[in-house]
Amino acid sequence: MTAPSDRELFDRWRDQPAPLLPLLHAFHDRDGSLTEHALRAISAELRVPIADLFGTVTFYHHLSREPDGRHTPRVCVGPICALRGAAAIREGLGKTMAIPCPGRCDEPVPVLLGDRVLIASSAELLEQRPSPLPPSPPAGVEECVFAHIREPGRTGLEGYVATGGYAGLDDALDGSPEEILELIDASGLAGRGGAGFPTGRKWRAVAEAGRTPKTIVCNADEGEPGCFKDRALLDHDPHAVIEGMIAAARAVGASRGFVYLRYEYPATERILDVAVDEARSAGRLGPDALGPGRPFDIHVRRGAGAYICGEETSLLNSLEGKHPFPRNRPPFPVTHGYEGLPTVVNNVETLASVPHILARGADWYRLLGRGEHAGTKVISLSGDIARPGNYEVPMGFPLRTLLEEWAGGPGEGRSVQAVTMAGLSGGFLAGDDLDVTLDEPSIRAKGSFLGAGGIMVFDDSRDMLEVAHAAMEFFAEESCGKCFPCRIGTRRLTERLDGGGPADIEAWVDEVTDLSTTMKQTSACGLGQAAPLIAESLLRYFPERVSRQLASRG
Ligand SMILES: Cc1cc2nc3c(=O)[nH]c(=O)nc-3n(C[C@H](O)[C@H](O)[C@H](O)COP(=O)(O)O)c2cc1C
Ligand code: SF4
Repeated sequence: MTAPSDRELFDRWRDQPAPLLPLLHAFHDRDGSLTEHALRAISAELRVPIADLFGTVTFYHHLSREPDGRHTPRVCVGPICALRGAAAIREGLGKTMAIPCPGRCDEPVPVLLGDRVLIASSAELLEQRPSPLPPSPPAGVEECVFAHIREPGRTGLEGYVATGGYAGLDDALDGSPEEILELIDASGLAGRGGAGFPTGRKWRAVAEAGRTPKTIVCNADEGEPGCFKDRALLDHDPHAVIEGMIAAARAVGASRGFVYLRYEYPATERILDVAVDEARSAGRLGPDALGPGRPFDIHVRRGAGAYICGEETSLLNSLEGKHPFPRNRPPFPVTHGYEGLPTVVNNVETLASVPHILARGADWYRLLGRGEHAGTKVISLSGDIARPGNYEVPMGFPLRTLLEEWAGGPGEGRSVQAVTMAGLSGGFLAGDDLDVTLDEPSIRAKGSFLGAGGIMVFDDSRDMLEVAHAAMEFFAEESCGKCFPCRIGTRRLTERLDGGGPADIEAWVDEVTDLSTTMKQTSACGLGQAAPLIAESLLRYFPERVSRQLASRG
């Protein structure tokens, strides 16, 4: 097959919504890298200043400017893969590129090769593996988003409908938008992407915002190390996310939708494309999706590798083809989102919860949680644990029970030394603080947060200073650099966690505390505000390890 010409690529994408990312990928795939010729042609065609385009392209990890760079093996060096021999695998593979966590912590070590994600047990053994299904819950535990995910055929439209899919939406489309808003409000559903904002309130704000067209964005960027739940949901239950997006569109009056999918999930993109096509063919998307003459459609857009693009305003800039810096807020996306118009941005898990709430009711969902906590949360467990994977737990469930009983505990003769929370962003919990329930208020009371629900486990053989240093290096690499407390602070903290800074322990602690406080108070977005939790929690739980490091410098 002959490679498509520039003209054919432009004809395919130019008039589509959010065309920059797909065009960059199309040229990158065709040429093996982004050549100067390609960038100049795209700049002229889309009327993007060439200097801006160069700046944007070099910001992303996976858009190579080196000849044939697309085919250089890219190996995860995230915290879990580092423990599982990523360095030896890189050595064995020859020329490689280090990449941050691509969301396969349940099956280390992932290697991206062209458009494939392979799992490397060693440099010699690389294999393509489908995304694992979540382990079944213990008897008597009721799930929400995973309730039907293990049923055969669920990924396709026919299987989805046969297992109850789209039934709740059909009823909702017969009712009013206000009824959907009231139901979601009453369910207590809150954002599962990190911030935990009440979904009903977000949708109402967009419904009440005057200007159109409105947009629904599914945030499938999932860049937080240790998080891989959105991949499982999209790979095995894509129609649930589509159904949730259609319900959101009906509730707020939106006519267009995007799934912003992280680059590192190429197999997921293919699954999503099929599901969106199926939904279109069945008339669930398209000109009459929300009723006669009420259109809604979904476009899948693949990111290009940048953790900050998970932050919703950075994501919107990326979709719009701008440099993906986070925006200053207010105004918020609910009034000034995609193209400056009212926009719902919701996480995959949040949207996947909606069809179940439509079908089974607000009370059913709320009462899945324990005590005053509504609903469930998917926890991605990885690291030193017998059965890593995605577990859907009732909100308010004890962490110890999840670790020890559901997931089989750490290895034989080992104990859990520490876990991370919110992937890496919540820092560490250790010691007696592991006796906590999995809900935002309880975890915040320990100085951390639940966030998107990634938990990495480290047993008593691990050097927590090394883990903390690797974590801070990740934040320093991924800081977008827009504001200096984060740009400089993450670098200075990385150096200190590598043994730099004053030799005197008190002076060292003062300096690290000062850096952390300044970053938390003055960084412009969640990355810079959360990154210091790694250093703070290391000091809280492992002060003797820091003292030992400083003493060893003499
Ligand atoms: C640095 C950073 C990275 C983020 N990454 C993600 C992400 O990968 N996926 C996600 O859904 N939300 C992410 N968020 C949170 C989003 O900004 C936003 O709150 C979320 O998508 C809203 O959806 P929800 O209300 O359904 O949680 C991130 C936030 C920050 C500050
Ligand atoms: S806090 Fe960090 S990631 Fe966020 S805007 Fe500032 S520099 Fe960028």
